[in-house]
Amino acid sequence: MPKIKFLPSGAEVEVPEGKILLDAALDNNVKIDHNCGGNCACSTCHVYIEEGYDTLNEMSEDEEDMLDEVENLQANSRLACQCRVTSDLLVRIPEKAPLFEDDI
Ligand code: FES
Repeated sequence: MPKIKFLPSGAEVEVPEGKILLDAALDNNVKIDHNCGGNCACSTCHVYIEEGYDTLNEMSEDEEDMLDEVENLQANSRLACQCRVTSDLLVRIPEKAPLFEDDI
């Protein structure tokens, strides 16, 4: 089963092949925002794939369009709800600036 390590927490999880990356995180109490519920209609589940990027399914046009909205886009940016896990991954969850003072 593929292993996924999430940064910056260092949490490691094992998931069945074919699992959606967002679900792999949420099922294991790793927090990734997902405002649209995994429907490729927001960009809050943006992550960086530090290792294993090439093992993921190809990006759809919808995902590319959504990624255009993210802050700090990088060559290894993906939306976690659109990635199917087939192999070991190292995933960095970006730190987000708080939207409201209450979040601080
Ligand atoms: S949860 Fe909205 S695009 Fe992934």
